[in-house]
Amino acid sequence: MIVKTTIPSARSALAKTGTPRVLVPTMGGLHRGHRALIEKARRVAGGSGTVIVSIFVNPTQFGPTEDFSKYPRPFDEDLALCKAAGANLIFAPEPGSMYLPDSSVFVLEESLSRSLCGLSRPGHFRGVCTVIAKLFNILQPDCAIFGEKDWQQLAILRKMVSDLNFPVKILAHPTVRESDGLALSSRNVYLSAEEREAAPAIFAILKNVSALSLTPHQLARKAREQLQRLPGARLDYLEVVDAETLQPAKDRKRAGRLATAVFFGKTRLIDNVPVPKLSLTKKTKS
Ligand code: PAJ
Repeated sequence: MIVKTTIPSARSALAKTGTPRVLVPTMGGLHRGHRALIEKARRVAGGSGTVIVSIFVNPTQFGPTEDFSKYPRPFDEDLALCKAAGANLIFAPEPGSMYLPDSSVFVLEESLSRSLCGLSRPGHFRGVCTVIAKLFNILQPDCAIFGEKDWQQLAILRKMVSDLNFPVKILAHPTVRESDGLALSSRNVYLSAEEREAAPAIFAILKNVSALSLTPHQLARKAREQLQRLPGARLDYLEVVDAETLQPAKDRKRAGRLATAVFFGKTRLIDNVPVPKLSLTKKTKS
């Protein structure tokens, strides 16, 4: 496994590697969720392809009061995990080499970004789209893998690839969870012991509520009531949206997604589950 920290050195190393090139973009602080994505990349790349992992805490996707400076950066542990999972090349650039002081071009998605996390994190998806577009241009992958834990990010990046004609295939990986159901996240390390104990209830509530034969409106009301009763939690949002367009779901005719963001103290956790298509009888309409 080779590690490159500059754009020219990554490009010249890649010129000597086999195809397909499969990219797993990350911000480091790697856990079993990231590891599952890298292992999937290894399977997709096969014996002769190249698995690239980028490790870059992207400043443009953090708001001014967010956790950019304290975001975990355990670089040596991250490299060990990448190696064990089968990565061939790590691209870990310095912020100064990715964004020059006079950078003035950004990638803006203007529809799917307007809901869910986009409302409480203005500018976040502009930062995500811009850095992923740059990584695609620098590393020229055939394929890139993203986690369903960040459902809105996945939907927006699929739209970016389609609207801007990037020759990159996007693959998704299901959310990897702790045994108690909590979605793995680099931010879980911020939780206190009490918060960590309460946090698995987020997934339990989403899972139980999404299994009910109710309208999206009824589902959302039920899940909100339950999340608001969680000790130490403050609900940021809970919505049922169309799984693809992320517009509010009005009925169960198309696949939906029940998505939430919950604060425990300053730590913001997100999670989402599928809301399957259903033909509802009159009785269950709200
Ligand atoms: P990061 O939070 O490091 O996540 C990197 C990738 O791992 C994303 O595709 C994310 O969805 C996936 N991931 C994280 N936790 C997961 C889990 N529990 N199960 C499955 N997949 C999981 O997301 C980002 O970084 C950044 O926004 C990035 C795309 C790298 C752009 O900077």
